[in-house]
Amino acid sequence: MKCHKTRLFVLFVALTTILLLNTNISAQNTVTKTEIINGANLIDMQGNIVNAHGGGFIKVGKYYYWIGENRRKGVFVSCYRSTDLINWEFRGDLLTRLSHKELDKANIERPKVIYNEKTRQFVMWMHYEYGPDYRYARAAVATSSDIEKPFTYLKSFRPFNNMARDCGLFKDENGSAYFFAAARENYDMILYQLTDDYLDVKEQIITLWPGGHREAPALVKRGNYYFMITSGCTGWAPNQAKYAFSKLIAGPWSDLKEIANATTYESQSTYILPIEGEKTTSYLYIGDRWDGKQYFNSSYIFLPLDFKNDSTMELNWVDKIQPDVKTGEIKQITNRYQ
Ligand code: GAL
Repeated sequence: MKCHKTRLFVLFVALTTILLLNTNISAQNTVTKTEIINGANLIDMQGNIVNAHGGGFIKVGKYYYWIGENRRKGVFVSCYRSTDLINWEFRGDLLTRLSHKELDKANIERPKVIYNEKTRQFVMWMHYEYGPDYRYARAAVATSSDIEKPFTYLKSFRPFNNMARDCGLFKDENGSAYFFAAARENYDMILYQLTDDYLDVKEQIITLWPGGHREAPALVKRGNYYFMITSGCTGWAPNQAKYAFSKLIAGPWSDLKEIANATTYESQSTYILPIEGEKTTSYLYIGDRWDGKQYFNSSYIFLPLDFKNDSTMELNWVDKIQPDVKTGEIKQITNRYQ
């Protein structure tokens, strides 16, 4: 009897130890972070590196969703969410090699998602390639009624027969939505208005800076002005970002103006995220720091955009930021390059 009790006791101690150890491991992985360290590996709440490059953001309820390129093990697009823009929780894969037969040998880049109130669908637009090179130059579209659930891949095509490579998506305040993509071997950036269901292009609106050779477009509206940031075309290598502004989305757009430094702090633009708070609205530049040789070493930078007046944008380096999603303010912590 005594022996039985001892064995039970040993079993109890062993189980408790295992339980405590596990709690400890998951506690380590879910340590709440208080700041974004620019350029450092970003670890999600499950303890893994965030794979969401060339991504876009969308706010749904209290969550900011971050949807971007994953590229691991046949996954194309993954979904993360956060309530504070600092701690990101992996929520699932939205598109994989198995989602559709057109995706078996595909390469998907720069996915972005907007929500269509009329159809109650989340609509994803992205750059679609098939095979090892960039010859297809097509846009692709996928939808889902749940932002966290796998998307249904619909099609790939060339909008009005134009090539479509680096691309972006923008939903205006009145519900009109726009897709813009590098065309004519990346010499032209063309802006298209989407149909009411956001599943197709309705009209080719304008060619921005014809022959300008711009990539990595990100569009936002602040006050009375639309702003677009783009990069030059140097593949994975960073270059000088430029921005332009316009009172109307259809133009006339201003000339391209340099922003940040000659390498855009070693990054390439992917998105401009407005943080609408109770006190103010701030704008975050989100860029990829690509490692073209070892893609998974790529990281991110999140930098506040400064507006000296209504149509002037600045992008300065800060080591760390603390966005406050409640007030809309971004605390900047700089201790390098100074
Ligand atoms: C970049 C582009 C990336 C990717 C890369 C491939 O210019 O922005 O999305 O296509 O080229 O070299």
